[in-house]
Amino acid sequence: SPSDPSLVARALAAKEALGSRVFVLGHHYQRDEVIQFADVTGDSFKLAREAAARPDAEYIVFCGVHFMAESADILTADSQKVVLPDLAAGCSMADMARLRQVEDTWAALEAAGLADEVVPVTYMNSSADIKAFCGKHGGAVCTSSNAETALEWAFAQGSKVLFLPDQHLGRNTAVLKMGMSLEDCVVWDPHRPGGGLTPEELAGARMILWKGHCSVHGRFSAETIPQLRADVPGVQVIVHPECTHEVVLAADLVGSTEFIIQTIEAAPAGSAWAVGTELNLVKRLASEHPDKRIVFLDKTVCYCSTMNRIDLPHFVWAMESLVDGVVVNQIEVDAETEKWAKVALDRMLALPG
Ligand code: 13P
Ligand code: SF4
Repeated sequence: SPSDPSLVARALAAKEALGSRVFVLGHHYQRDEVIQFADVTGDSFKLAREAAARPDAEYIVFCGVHFMAESADILTADSQKVVLPDLAAGCSMADMARLRQVEDTWAALEAAGLADEVVPVTYMNSSADIKAFCGKHGGAVCTSSNAETALEWAFAQGSKVLFLPDQHLGRNTAVLKMGMSLEDCVVWDPHRPGGGLTPEELAGARMILWKGHCSVHGRFSAETIPQLRADVPGVQVIVHPECTHEVVLAADLVGSTEFIIQTIEAAPAGSAWAVGTELNLVKRLASEHPDKRIVFLDKTVCYCSTMNRIDLPHFVWAMESLVDGVVVNQIEVDAETEKWAKVALDRMLALPG
């Protein structure tokens, strides 16, 4: 839908008034009406690096979800303020791993005599306290664009990985990129005693996958893909690694949002693509590449409702508040959590590539 012209004018005026005091970051899943005001767009990894690379900006306005804004706060100086235009922009996947549950899991691994060989690795899509837990216990953060490198690093530190909170990214990376077998992976269910696993299953596993998933990407189904291939001759199916293992197996290419964008940009005119990721991004790709045929992998899958909470009215409100000298919706991670989460994030940022 076209943006309200008066709100567009107000957003432009606020940006101009703030000048270089503000830096606006936009994740690829943001609405068009918001992403047009981003100084930089990117996937989670690129945005974390961009936040860290802006020491002169007094304010970082993060158009994305809560865990991304937390990571930006951790990676920026204490004097810099990170603003999330709507505090309700969370992530259902990040909510699936709570610190208490992870601590209980670690205690169970200690009781089983396994904790010494387990390296905790958390996907960026997790709260700051989970990242801090990983930092404290010798682990690291990863994103969809460096999960393989991060896991290679982790397996150089220990023989097992506890992978939080997205079982699909963990399994897809271990099996499809690192040559592990499905049997090397077990799923730890935090709602069941012992994770719902036998001691033998736990002892035999290499990847202990937290039972979490993305409520958006989890909806894509491998069953729609054969029909799609029949309907769209020559179509290439490109999906995000948060999709289930079956979907990724049935697809042609898998990668982060930045990878999906770059792949389609580099593709020849006339090529056809079915894209399995968030709908705002797929629609934008289709409108930016009229010379290519770009379809959504499954029309029954919805937008990410929390990404969509950042709309133009919230953006304008946050920006105009800053112009008035009022910092609304600041995301501030406490010092102790920040210290350890930064250890885990810095381990990721130091990875090769
Ligand atoms: P990336 O942009 O890092 O691929 O992440 C996708 C995502 O789900 C963010 O919430
Ligand atoms: Fe979280 Fe999925 Fe939305 Fe990304 S798309 S923010 S993982 S719910």
